[in-house]
Amino acid sequence: MKKKIVIGNWKLNGNKKTIKENLLKIINSNINTKKCKISIAPPIPYLYLSKYILKNNKNIKLTSQNIDKNIKGAFTGEISGEMLKDINVKYVIIGHSERRKYHLEKNKIILKKLISSIKTKLTPILCIGEKKKNYIQKKSKQICKKQIKFLKNKKIKNIIKKIIIAYEPIWAIGTGISADINHINDIYNTIKNYIIKKTNITKKNLKIIYGGSVNKTNILEIIQKTKIDGFLIGSSSLIPNEFIEIINIIINKI
Ligand code: PGA
Repeated sequence: MKKKIVIGNWKLNGNKKTIKENLLKIINSNINTKKCKISIAPPIPYLYLSKYILKNNKNIKLTSQNIDKNIKGAFTGEISGEMLKDINVKYVIIGHSERRKYHLEKNKIILKKLISSIKTKLTPILCIGEKKKNYIQKKSKQICKKQIKFLKNKKIKNIIKKIIIAYEPIWAIGTGISADINHINDIYNTIKNYIIKKTNITKKNLKIIYGGSVNKTNILEIIQKTKIDGFLIGSSSLIPNEFIEIINIIINKI
């Protein structure tokens, strides 16, 4: 059984005080990490503080919300994979719909960021997902396949097992209502079959997680009725008690 991975994406929220308090609550909850990998993505200026708070806690890893395609040099304001690695970051979120929308990130730059993260030994979490309009037009599968087409690229094809795919339907993010089970399963199978066909990864090594309004109310059904390998959680991860409750529900069901 693959360990489920649960990542809390804190987006642009928090300050020194709340980040410290929330991390301590999660650390002190003594979650059973034998069945679950846990990671937190605080805003980037707080990664170092988080590393300090996590100290020797090996069970909760850090995730960066962004990375630059460049590793070093004259790139003012950017975040290098080498630097993230240097402060113990393990995962990096790439291609999140909010970056695609507000920072106009397209597949070309996303591919470069993926390569940069792998070169610096970070594990990329590649986010994909369709807009509401595409969902209504029944184009979800088509859009998702388009967003992972570059995984066939020679540079990526052989390292695909290092990438975690996060399926996040944009119309479900931040709405409080997740995609329904049939839809999650349908897209999970589409992504899985597409990647297995186009690359040389085996089913065992492929990791596809889900994000989009996961909360303490819907997690049980998702975990029971899908084969999803983990979750990327926004709003509900900002409330430590809810985040812990979600993780415990996952642990008790696997
Ligand atoms: P949400 O966010 O859980 O608030 O929907 C998920 C995400 O954006 O990764």
